[in-house]
Amino acid sequence: MIGGSGHVGARAARALRRLHPDLPIAIAGRDARRAAAVAAEVGGPTTATTADVGRGDLGLERGASFSAVVTLVKDEASNAVKRAQADGVPHIAFSDFVSEIGPLVAHHVARPTRAPILLLGHTLGGAATLAALHLAQDLRSVDAIAIGCVVDADDRGGPASQADFERNEQIGQAALVLQDGRWTWARGDAATRRFADAEGVEQVGHALPLMDVVSLAAATDALSIRVDMAARDASTRGAGHATDLVVEVSGRLDDGTAARLRYDIVDADSYARLSAYGAAIATERLLGLEGGPPVGPGLYHPESLIDPARAVARLEELGARVRRTRS
Ligand SMILES: NC(=O)c1ccc[n+]([C@@H]2O[C@H](COP(=O)([O-])OP(=O)(O)OC[C@H]3O[C@@H](n4cnc5c(N)ncnc54)[C@H](OP(=O)(O)O)[C@@H]3O)[C@@H](O)[C@H]2O)c1
Repeated sequence: MIGGSGHVGARAARALRRLHPDLPIAIAGRDARRAAAVAAEVGGPTTATTADVGRGDLGLERGASFSAVVTLVKDEASNAVKRAQADGVPHIAFSDFVSEIGPLVAHHVARPTRAPILLLGHTLGGAATLAALHLAQDLRSVDAIAIGCVVDADDRGGPASQADFERNEQIGQAALVLQDGRWTWARGDAATRRFADAEGVEQVGHALPLMDVVSLAAATDALSIRVDMAARDASTRGAGHATDLVVEVSGRLDDGTAARLRYDIVDADSYARLSAYGAAIATERLLGLEGGPPVGPGLYHPESLIDPARAVARLEELGARVRRTRS
């Protein structure tokens, strides 16, 4: 796990260890002491190693071999995906906005039979997309999907997360949304949406260019799809509501009546933890430890590999609080 010592990484390693007590995990980052401290805390067969995605050889020891390359930091020079392809092992790309996946797609196109590559720059590591698709299964047709994520105003993730958000601002801060069947880069007022959080309090969200929109547009016939993130003052929310994921899917039931189905998925920790659960669920699936055999070479989204019902059940098992409603 490159970036395994970060906010998301340490939580993902802990979640994986809970799910798979015997799975060998290597925690990697530039700072060896930090990686070793996380490895000790994760326990079981966990080791620590230095790695730097800025280096062609990732700075790994010569001859080191791994069964997957889970990259929980931006792979700016594509060195991690190249290593996964060279070794023929699964790769998770966790840090790419929807506007940034070109290089990953090109690596797959150039060597399509080398390795499975999972694009996982989705809201909370795919949790939102999988929850939306679980709701969509109960509808005959889907009209609109709206994902809202509410976090504490001071929850900015680690330095790597902050760098990614700053990069998004530099490239214009627009967010890809599907609106009335057309792809639009939303800015300004169009990038703002009000929605109720899990406690019923209205929040003001801003659209983000996360991968859910393209996954859900390909998986459903929805004409409107967007992802918005809202920051709230922690003193205004109830205990245990550090991160609220709100997933709303509207459409028609089998009998033709209009319905809006909603999941509220709530966690008491920073948004790194639900994201880490998503990464852990994806990792166990790629390795064939849960939900099917090991995944062969290909380019994947979370919904191409993970059964939505299983994902929601796994999130609950890991400790997320899940509520489903219909209006
Ligand atoms: N898809 C999602 O749901 C989702 C959700 C949250 C975050 N993210 C993304 O996940 C990433 C991690 O976020 P975070 O909040 O956990 O950040 P973080 O706390 O800063 O963690 C970054 C991790 O990567 C390591 N790292 C940094 N630069 C590195 C390099 N050049 N080579 C190898 N390792 C390096 C860090 O250790 P050292 O400093 O010791 O190298 C640390 O372990 C970010 O890219 C963020 O945008 C995605």
